[in-house]
Amino acid sequence: MKIQQNISLKAFNTFGIDVKAKNYISVQNVEELKQVLSLNEFDEKFILSGGSNMLLTKDVEKLVIHLNIKGKETIAKNEKDVLVKVAAGENWHEFVLWCIENDFGGIENLSLIPGNVGTCPIQNIGAYGVEVKDVITEVEAVAIKNGEIRVFSNEDCNFGYRNSVFKNEFKNQFIITNVTFKLTRNTHQTKISYGAIQQELEKNNKTENPSIKDVSDAVIAIRQSKLPDPKEIGNSGSFFKNPVVSKDVFLKIQEQFPTMPFYEVSESETKIPAGWLIETAEFKGKRFGDAGVHTKQALVLVNYGNASGKEIFELAQKIQKTVFEKFAISLEMEVNIY
Ligand code: EPU
Repeated sequence: MKIQQNISLKAFNTFGIDVKAKNYISVQNVEELKQVLSLNEFDEKFILSGGSNMLLTKDVEKLVIHLNIKGKETIAKNEKDVLVKVAAGENWHEFVLWCIENDFGGIENLSLIPGNVGTCPIQNIGAYGVEVKDVITEVEAVAIKNGEIRVFSNEDCNFGYRNSVFKNEFKNQFIITNVTFKLTRNTHQTKISYGAIQQELEKNNKTENPSIKDVSDAVIAIRQSKLPDPKEIGNSGSFFKNPVVSKDVFLKIQEQFPTMPFYEVSESETKIPAGWLIETAEFKGKRFGDAGVHTKQALVLVNYGNASGKEIFELAQKIQKTVFEKFAISLEMEVNIY
């Protein structure tokens, strides 16, 4: 365990932004993490995990702690279910593939989401009708203030759409070290109602009782067809949340744009795809230097190479402003800005 100086964070964030950490340390286990937290000379700490949901707009003066804690453990098993405890530093998609290999069901719809296991509860990652809150039983975390370990039940996490206590009342107070998932063994309940999944399964003649692998393969194919691979083009997945608006606001926009896609959230609220708003505001595929809006999915901002975090942030603000002027809707950024 050694603190290093002036380390580039380019390889540690999926946007590929080249900023520096003044002081950087990688921790391999919870004990090391606690030791680092107790170092008095650094009162401010910056936790870096998979770096998949952040936009770095400046050098980091705080002590950057890179969570490299690995390990997967089956802690209970019966005929129907299995409980798996996974360390924060495990790569999310590799964990999904491991589950499929072991025939553990429940997260196949979440295939290919960038990031690590430790950050999946923070924003309650979700895709194609499944959210990670559906399978999380417990989240173990270390308090930054005093190094104490606290276990959060699923209820304690207060999960919502791309939301949890870790983004609200406990923001920057805990470091998640382990997540426990309850997954199915023989009784998988695949969720395939999402149109794109249906189409992909039909293409492969797999609509009759698809296996969890069939569903995962379908999700991988869909994502690869429209989302950029961060290894090739820097990005952070959806940059904004899909806004939820009142029925009145929705009906007004629908009058003008009858083909606008939408999802009913409740009798009084409707979710509008931010990707559609951004495309309709004519940003899809636009490029400003090396900062751009992805050509196939307008909700994804991209770094074509050497964009700075500031340039991407300015593009995001420009999009917010234009969408607001056109639709009177405020887009909220999903990605954490530093
Ligand atoms: N759309 C457009 N133009 C675009 C993009 C989308 O018109 O450029 C329209 C589509 O035609 C479709 C609708 O918007 O009718 C929804 O698009 P899509 O199915 O691609 O999903 P999304 O709402 O844009 C959300 C999640 C994704 C997740 C997908 C699939 C959020 C913020 N994003 O995107 O999650 O993979 O659904 O379930 O909720 C992420 O959070 O990083 C992420 C990729």
